[in-house]
Amino acid sequence: MELLQNKNVLVVGATGGIGAETARLIKNNNANVFLTGRDLSKLQEVATNCNIALDQVFQLDITNPNAVEQVAAKIHEKVGQLDILVNAAGIGIIKSLEDLSYEDFNQVIDVNLKGTFHLLKSFLPPMKEAKKD
Ligand SMILES: NC(=O)c1ccc[n+]([C@@H]2O[C@H](COP(=O)([O-])OP(=O)(O)OC[C@H]3O[C@@H](n4cnc5c(N)ncnc54)[C@H](OP(=O)(O)O)[C@@H]3O)[C@@H](O)[C@H]2O)c1
Repeated sequence: MELLQNKNVLVVGATGGIGAETARLIKNNNANVFLTGRDLSKLQEVATNCNIALDQVFQLDITNPNAVEQVAAKIHEKVGQLDILVNAAGIGIIKSLEDLSYEDFNQVIDVNLKGTFHLLKSFLPPMKEAKKD
């Protein structure tokens, strides 16, 4: 797919089923791929399988906005800005309402909702700036 060739792409949650497979497909289309996840050894395994350099891999918990900002700064230093961000990080706690605790609910909101917001805050503005040029 020529559309992806040489594009700077970040796959967040690259240690998961969807993220790892997405990373493989995108890398196979000759994009410049960065990976993040929490489990560093799994992340490195995915990177090695996809032929992605280990200095393009960052351990990241997306519930931590400062950590997201720091990883964004490292990636922006390398490539200016991303072209594509794939967020495949997420959790699902499947329980009946009676069994679902406030802690469970907050955890889901922290990762799936707030985590996505932190990613957008750190990565989207440079992408928008680049589009203006
Ligand atoms: N598979 C499906 O059929 C399906 C269908 C609909 C929706 N979804 C949703 O799509 C998303 C990905 O699915 P999947 O099947 O690939 O799930 P998965 O295999 O469980 O992978 C989840 C990914 O999210 C990452 N993650 C979780 N909490 C994180 C955090 N706080 N910070 C950073 N990364 C975090 C995990 O990283 P670590 O392992 O490194 O912690 C892992 O890479 C999930 O939200 C899932 O609910 C999946």
